[in-house]
Amino acid sequence: MSVPFLDLAAQSAEIADEVLPTWQEQLLSAGFVGGSEVAAFESEYAAYIGTRHVVGVGNGTDAVELALRAVGVRAGDEVVIPANTFIATAEAASRIGAVPVLVDVDAEHLLIDPAAVEAAVTERTRAVVPVHLYGQTAPVEDLRPIANRHGLAIVEDAAQSQGASSSAGMAGALGRVAATSFYPGKNLGAAGDAGAVLTNDPEVAAFVRNVAAHGSTTKYVHDRVGFNSRLDAVQAPVLRAKLRRLDGWNKARRIAADRYAELLADVPGVRVPTSRAGNEDVWHLYVVQVEERDLVLAELHQAGIGAALHYPTPLHLTAAYAHLGYTAGQFPVTEAAAGRILSLPMFPHLREEQQVAVADALTAAVGRGAR
Ligand SMILES: Cc1ncc(COP(=O)(O)O)c(C=O)c1O
Repeated sequence: MSVPFLDLAAQSAEIADEVLPTWQEQLLSAGFVGGSEVAAFESEYAAYIGTRHVVGVGNGTDAVELALRAVGVRAGDEVVIPANTFIATAEAASRIGAVPVLVDVDAEHLLIDPAAVEAAVTERTRAVVPVHLYGQTAPVEDLRPIANRHGLAIVEDAAQSQGASSSAGMAGALGRVAATSFYPGKNLGAAGDAGAVLTNDPEVAAFVRNVAAHGSTTKYVHDRVGFNSRLDAVQAPVLRAKLRRLDGWNKARRIAADRYAELLADVPGVRVPTSRAGNEDVWHLYVVQVEERDLVLAELHQAGIGAALHYPTPLHLTAAYAHLGYTAGQFPVTEAAAGRILSLPMFPHLREEQQVAVADALTAAVGRGAR
């Protein structure tokens, strides 16, 4: 049996009847920019996460950049970012002219290591970005005292964690401001690019709305140099329909994660992921660790199993960030993990027999890799 890494068509099938009439209306009324659907989604998502403001924007990378700008990050400032994240987190800082200062992650959950953050702080550090990776909530509660001591803003990257929570609260409501992505494959995904900035601070929200609209609040009155980053009107009905299902879909992911843990518990050479104490993870990705990973990955692909890597190259070893001058060996946990991680198929509509097929193929591949 072949198993896809992700089945987005199954999500579309569930929501099609709700979305298509609104899309038709939007098309025929030519209401493509702004409007009531976008406003409704923003307020529904704010209520769901528990922040006072949500500003819809064009994508998650813009959202991180806007959030960093909103807390005052400027060219030359330093922003502390985990080495184990998607490159967009660092790109957002770089686009401001700020310097991404990378730090290692903890070995158990591969999330930003607060002790490493503290060690990386200089007088130019302006913000720290906990990335809620793989659907986990990062240890923001441990970052708070560090941020307070050094006057840093906590800017959450909640792109992979819609609906996740920790003992500190919902991911996306834990810092001064948060950014999220609704890229189609996210737990809450649009039908194209989309993102949002979340905050309780009305000034931050107003700043983000202004910068994302060419530095303008009143048409053709430009207060600052901004850019254009909008949540497309046609994305809003998709996001609203999926938001209504998000808790159910996240629950399905949790059940699937528990089932993987059971199926793989006694397989030698496979380390399954665990949740941080107090976390309710939403399993955006289900990342196991194995020896001989490249071999195992190739075997899974040969068996028709859609496995993937998140992420094969730590940020400091990418060509894009060679100019930062980091060297191999500098972030040993991230680097060791990069050679062992393997993301298994994980999506709300994943069926039990598909998971059994994944577990069987993985068990066989790991067995051969060990020989
Ligand atoms: C952790 C993280 N941050 C930022 C982004 C950027 O989002 P987007 O692709 O919508 O620009 C993504 C996803 O792509 C992500 O996974």
